[in-house]
Amino acid sequence: MYELALFMLDLVQNALTAGATYIKIWLDEDFTRNRLTLTIADNGCGMAPHTLTRALDPFMTTKTSRRKSIGLGLPFFRQLVESCGGGFKIKSRPGCGTVITGWYPLDNVDQPPLGDWNETLRALIQANPHVRFYCAHRRNQRCVTFDTLPVRRALGPHADALWQSADMTTWFREQLSAS
Ligand SMILES: Nc1ncnc2c1ncn2[C@@H]1O[C@H](COP(=O)(O)OP(=O)(O)O)[C@@H](O)[C@H]1O
Ligand SMILES: [Mg+2]
Repeated sequence: MYELALFMLDLVQNALTAGATYIKIWLDEDFTRNRLTLTIADNGCGMAPHTLTRALDPFMTTKTSRRKSIGLGLPFFRQLVESCGGGFKIKSRPGCGTVITGWYPLDNVDQPPLGDWNETLRALIQANPHVRFYCAHRRNQRCVTFDTLPVRRALGPHADALWQSADMTTWFREQLSAS
């Protein structure tokens, strides 16, 4: 079974391919309302209505590479949340970006494991130094948020040289799991 973190990775990959420079990832695990909600918003190229319709077709892709010529990311995520008794929403406009939301009840037996959420975010952040990531993870009353913009600002001219260093890896890990 695939982990939710891998679905997130796939959706963020789509945003990166769409040229996004700012990606927001919200994970809300609300046990009081019995609902998990994942929202990913990007400022990439967006999709015109006909592309959007085709994007939800499991066999459509705009990628031309032979290595992976079938698009599964979006339809796969939709199928996941719907098979868990939840729902899926997508809003996209050319030139404005895309917002994808999926949710399902937290008490259903078909839900995937979360996977290594923080480590997946950290890898995305460090692999894409020039993309601003805003991450929020709420579990009941506890909410951890992390924004890469102030980090880049604080590092100033050293940001590029330091971004992928081992020290930054350790620091990102600490920040993302801040207790
Ligand atoms: N965030 C996004 N911004 C713009 N276009 C997107 C986005 N997500 C998906 N798409 C479009 O939908 C298509 C299908 O996406 P997906 O199902 O993940 O398959 P793939 O990434 O393999 O093409 C993409 O090729 C792209 O054209
Ligand atoms: Mg994809």
